[in-house]
Amino acid sequence: MAGLNGRAVVVTGAGRGLGESFAVHLAQAGCRVVVNDVDLELAERTAGNIRAYGGSAVASGHTVTDPAQASALVQLCVDEFGAIDGLVNNAGLNYEALPWQEEAEQVRELVEVNVLGVMYTGIAAVKAMREQGHGGAIVNVSSGASLGQRKLGVYSASKGAVASLTYSWALDLEEIGIRVNAICPLAHTRMVWKSERSLRSCPPDRTPSRIAPLVLFLLSDNAEGITGQLVRCNGPQLHIMGQPYLKAPILERQTWDTETVRRAFDEVFSAHLEPYGLEKRVPPRLRKWTESTSSPLRTA
Ligand SMILES: NC(=O)c1ccc[n+]([C@@H]2O[C@H](COP(=O)([O-])OP(=O)(O)OC[C@H]3O[C@@H](n4cnc5c(N)ncnc54)[C@H](O)[C@@H]3O)[C@@H](O)[C@H]2O)c1
Repeated sequence: MAGLNGRAVVVTGAGRGLGESFAVHLAQAGCRVVVNDVDLELAERTAGNIRAYGGSAVASGHTVTDPAQASALVQLCVDEFGAIDGLVNNAGLNYEALPWQEEAEQVRELVEVNVLGVMYTGIAAVKAMREQGHGGAIVNVSSGASLGQRKLGVYSASKGAVASLTYSWALDLEEIGIRVNAICPLAHTRMVWKSERSLRSCPPDRTPSRIAPLVLFLLSDNAEGITGQLVRCNGPQLHIMGQPYLKAPILERQTWDTETVRRAFDEVFSAHLEPYGLEKRVPPRLRKWTESTSSPLRTA
């Protein structure tokens, strides 16, 4: 893979699952890898395996949820390998709950890892890359769930935050040569084993190794000119995730009062409401037009 050999890359949450696979494949491509996981034993196991096969890796047990530890993690890469060229912001948590079942402590814990952890580690890496002056590449790990999924409100929101961060940082960092993209993976890991629904959409042959080539590509010089993108890979399928956008028609008046807002919805937006969530659920107001059995045109 062009331009990966000798690169210094940090992979967070790399003690198991997707992160472990990314770290191993990066090392096989000649990268020097900081294998981070809050579970240090697992990080050491992954790093040890890489070294046993002749690769270059060092383990880190820092938690990404603490800005000082996130900085120390990046510093470890610079101290060990003389630079940081890439970051895979992979560490993440997930649980299922309906909104009324949510517990504040669990919400906070998830947001700390999935949102603040990505921000703290990303900020530390960007500062170090900027100081080095020769650019770099960041791959964040978002999810198809960022479009909205039942029982995954908090997780979905955290991955939506990662998508927004990716777009914004790609805008900010282009001029200093840092590319920022995100992936939306699907792979058979501990995260999937915990959910019956995920297991149904993710058979065991969807291994993390099937996602790793995408991460290697996005970190490599082959991806020059590619930034600000969300790319989904679920094993067999690979595609770009569309960007949210300002949808026409954009109505204009000097001011909007409740009556004109109501009329805008009755007369214009009713026909422009969007199917929502990953399952593309049609809003109730539109269903009478889209569900064939109750279609007024058919029954008329
Ligand atoms: N598996 C999938 O199908 C899937 C789908 C979409 C997105 N993702 C995302 O991919 C990433 C990896 O998920 P996975 O399926 O391999 O999960 P996993 O649970 O197997 O691995 C996640 C790793 O992150 C580590 N981690 C948790 N908190 C940490 C912290 N504070 N600091 C450092 N490390 C920490 C865990 O110890 C664990 O080893 C996550 O961000 C997840 O949301 C996974």
